[in-house]
Amino acid sequence: MKALLRYVVLTSALVGAFEPVSTAVVAGMGAAALGRKLYYYVYENCDGTWLGFNSTGLEEDLRTKLFGQHVAARVILKAVTGFMNNKNPRKPLVLSLHGWTGTGKNYVSQLIAESIYCKGMTSGFVHLFTATAHFPHEMHLELYKSQLQQWIKGNVTNCPRSMFIFDEMDKMHPGLIDSIKPYLDFYDNLDGVSYRQAIFIFLSNAGGENIVQVALDFWTAGREREEIELKHLETALSLSVFNNKNSGFWHTSLIDKNLVDFFVPFLPLEYKHVVQCGLAEMAAKGLTPDEEVVDRMARDLSFFPKEERVFSRQGCKIISSRLDFYI
Ligand SMILES: Nc1ncnc2c1ncn2[C@@H]1O[C@H](COP(=O)(O)OP(=O)(O)OP(=O)(O)O)[C@@H](O)[C@H]1O
Ligand SMILES: [Mg+2]
Repeated sequence: MKALLRYVVLTSALVGAFEPVSTAVVAGMGAAALGRKLYYYVYENCDGTWLGFNSTGLEEDLRTKLFGQHVAARVILKAVTGFMNNKNPRKPLVLSLHGWTGTGKNYVSQLIAESIYCKGMTSGFVHLFTATAHFPHEMHLELYKSQLQQWIKGNVTNCPRSMFIFDEMDKMHPGLIDSIKPYLDFYDNLDGVSYRQAIFIFLSNAGGENIVQVALDFWTAGREREEIELKHLETALSLSVFNNKNSGFWHTSLIDKNLVDFFVPFLPLEYKHVVQCGLAEMAAKGLTPDEEVVDRMARDLSFFPKEERVFSRQGCKIISSRLDFYI
């Protein structure tokens, strides 16, 4: 950017030394071209300057920054890489992330956004909706529906590679979910707009208890957590989501019509993962990671089952604020 500015100044200084009329025209054209270039660097655009896909970056982030989620990491890497490398996807990518609180669902969405958009979550092409904040009143359902549809349509028209994250999906009105269904489907285009490059991510705690049960069963049987595979969680997850009236999916045909490409389970986090989160948090705060400090903090957190203290009740969620008391 600085180099570009210097170039603008330099070229205007140079052209000033030549014949006035033509150089003014040339300088004007040059400045316009440079101005355009500058504009593209400063303002986010829906092109290769501002978005792409860094698959090795995503792989590395999932491996080094996301703790205790070997199943989710694997599914996400495969799903996102497959989709982003497909020049002609038949439908948008639809991921549904499920799990206990504080296990990394928002965090993973952030990592995915960072692997695609230069500006990550702050990109103008990434849209985060939280059910309770954006759609709080059931009586405004019809208004929410049309606003949401217009928002999605307008933004995908503006940039086909848009990402929509719906948080607290279990608290979202089923009618609202129904209203976005057409965008998730296998259509070439809807009213002249193609949604096939878009990415939809749904986050919820639905199915979290069933996932915990599977993890607990493995632990009780003395089996390694890493032995847990997607197949061990898939059935329990989809059935529970389908049967849970509060999950938001209940009244819709999202599952019926196979609109969700991947259900991604997030395992409850153990003591050692909380410690890893604590150490990472210290580093993020610019401190030297100190195992003794983090250990003191982790010991004071609440774990379940009560006797065995295996899984963290809040996952890694409150670590950032808690840590301040122990430093
Ligand atoms: N598995 C994980 N690995 C590394 N850090 C994690 C993990 N899970 C959570 N964290 C940390 O904890 C913070 C809170 O987690 P996050 O918001 O992703 O939880 P969540 O699964 O969305 O929970 P909730 O269901 O309550 O919304 C993250 O910003 C991240 O710093
Ligand atoms: Mg969350």
